[in-house]
Amino acid sequence: MTSSSSSFSLLLFCLIVLLLAFFSHSSDPDPLQDFCVADLNATISGNGFPCKPRSQITSADFFYDGFTKEGNTSNIFGASVNPANVLAFPALNTLGISMNRVDFAPGGMNPPHSHPRASESGVVIQGKLLVGFVTTDSVYYSKVLTAGQMFVIPRGLVHFQRNVGEGKALAYTAFNSQLPGAVILSTTAFASSPPIPNEVLTQAFQIEDEVVNSIRSKFGA
Ligand SMILES: *[C@@H]1O[C@H](CO)[C@@H](O)[C@H](O)[C@H]1NC(C)=O
Ligand SMILES: *[C@@H]1O[C@H](CO)[C@@H](O)[C@H](O)[C@H]1NC(C)=O
Repeated sequence: MTSSSSSFSLLLFCLIVLLLAFFSHSSDPDPLQDFCVADLNATISGNGFPCKPRSQITSADFFYDGFTKEGNTSNIFGASVNPANVLAFPALNTLGISMNRVDFAPGGMNPPHSHPRASESGVVIQGKLLVGFVTTDSVYYSKVLTAGQMFVIPRGLVHFQRNVGEGKALAYTAFNSQLPGAVILSTTAFASSPPIPNEVLTQAFQIEDEVVNSIRSKFGA
């Protein structure tokens, strides 16, 4: 190979790598019209939801009051995640965005989880939250945030928020997906249906069978 053809090959290779990186980091696809309010009852399905007929669209479609009430935090995690994704707020269909309201009792936690389809930003409205995430090479980044402070969680990384203040805490989070999805580590591993075989979990976590059963029972599995 001549040196000019090998430098051309190198250039081509770099271009392909850059393009791959660009496409693999995109969020939901762009809309092709002003809006496409989801018809959640439609019998056909696609990558997203079909649009409600334009004739049935009213102002009410574009406003959502599901965030006005405090969530019920009486559960094992002491937190309530209220998702305003496309399933709750169909006007988000094809727009590539959604939000959550997260309420925390004192000591409450949004347990370690990841969103396969979205990066997340969040703002603390009330209280004091420890926010942390772990990179794919196991580096942990964290900070304690108070009202007005923001955080970001890169797409797909495992993260959590824990109320480390005296009283309740409240945060709103935003996603670059209409349906970010949430993989909660503890329930995914120990409360799937049907269950992951015990020998997989004993080997993965290097724990005894009875520990697996004990953790399962905590999640009612
Ligand atoms: C979907 O079906 C439910 C129950 O059958 C009905 O109440 C609702 O209005 C329907 N929604 C749409 C967008 O047609
Ligand atoms: C909150 O949830 C708990 C457990 O599901 C339930 O017993 C309680 O009645 C709920 N509280 C309110 C105010 O809805």
